[in-house]
Amino acid sequence: MSSPQQELLSWYAANKRDLPWRHTRDPYRILVSEVMLQQTQVDRVLPFYQRWLASFPDAQTCAEAELEVIHRQWKGLGYPSRAERLQLACREVVQQRCGQWPDTAAGLQELPGIGPYTAGAVACFAFAAAVPLVDTNVARVYARRDGLTMPPDKKELWAHAAAQVDPGDPISYNNALMELGALICGARSADCGACPWRERCVARGDDQRQQETANPLKVASRKDSYGVAITDRKKPRHHVVLALIHHDGRYLVAKRPHGAHVGGFWELPGGKREKGEDDRVALAREVIEELGGEILAARPFVSWNHDYGDRYISFHCYRCRLFKPEAVAPLAADELQWVEPAAFMQLNFPPANGPVQQRFKKYHRL
Ligand code: ADE
Repeated sequence: MSSPQQELLSWYAANKRDLPWRHTRDPYRILVSEVMLQQTQVDRVLPFYQRWLASFPDAQTCAEAELEVIHRQWKGLGYPSRAERLQLACREVVQQRCGQWPDTAAGLQELPGIGPYTAGAVACFAFAAAVPLVDTNVARVYARRDGLTMPPDKKELWAHAAAQVDPGDPISYNNALMELGALICGARSADCGACPWRERCVARGDDQRQQETANPLKVASRKDSYGVAITDRKKPRHHVVLALIHHDGRYLVAKRPHGAHVGGFWELPGGKREKGEDDRVALAREVIEELGGEILAARPFVSWNHDYGDRYISFHCYRCRLFKPEAVAPLAADELQWVEPAAFMQLNFPPANGPVQQRFKKYHRL
């Protein structure tokens, strides 16, 4: 089976647009493109990009130009402070650094007027740094493919993206991801049939989920049907992983021990993510502790937040297969059962776990 990175890169090789900044590794030219693309669509940027480079072919000509000339060349593109910031960065490189561009995201971020996203983009596209780049298109692709909690926590989103970058070819990988968000996985419509990740995507064919994830970086505090939005940043937040284990068309459910919190309800195996663990490590540990089983594969199924009043819990549910599903034991439950999808929908889950059944219903078209 090919990796998600390989699938994306093959799709990109066959479908990419021929954009001029994809033919250069010159940090100045990359920076010009990224600054222009910050608030402006590719098609609108193209003529301005060519005109700008005809007037200012390198950092030195840009650094030395009169401000009035800079503004004249930028006129029509909008947000003219961008042009001034671009010139400031060029001046720093030309006048203070002998024309040498820093070659890391951290170094580039020290230049005036360059923020973390732009620094990462130049580090990647000019110097092949394997850094994540998360703009609104990329955030949408990951939110949909991996069922991320909405709205996504910024730090977690970047960490999630960092784990996906192909270290062998970060330039193509990051370009391809943006291209997928721009051409296939659009905010208003997704062409799922043409997507190289259609077999991996949590939101495939789920109109509601696609709408909820249309602009993941813009939704600040809207209630989301798979849970609640996080509105109080000071309230503690914990993460719980859940294993939706399947085998031969049936799903594994556990009955909570009598006497425990929400005792007697059915639930999925899982538990709190501990310090230093990522979801998959926590999932593997919980499945060993609660079932004595070993996970063979786990894919994101649905994530949501629940507000318990004094704290939030972010739930992350993965659809899993085990190496030896027949050998599971109820090490932490009163009882285990393998149930058909229709029976799964009839079970009484704790109220905070409602989104699993909502998503399950859509998944099995019940
Ligand atoms: N948006 C931001 N950077 C981009 C790039 N390098 N290519 C296409 N769209 C982009």
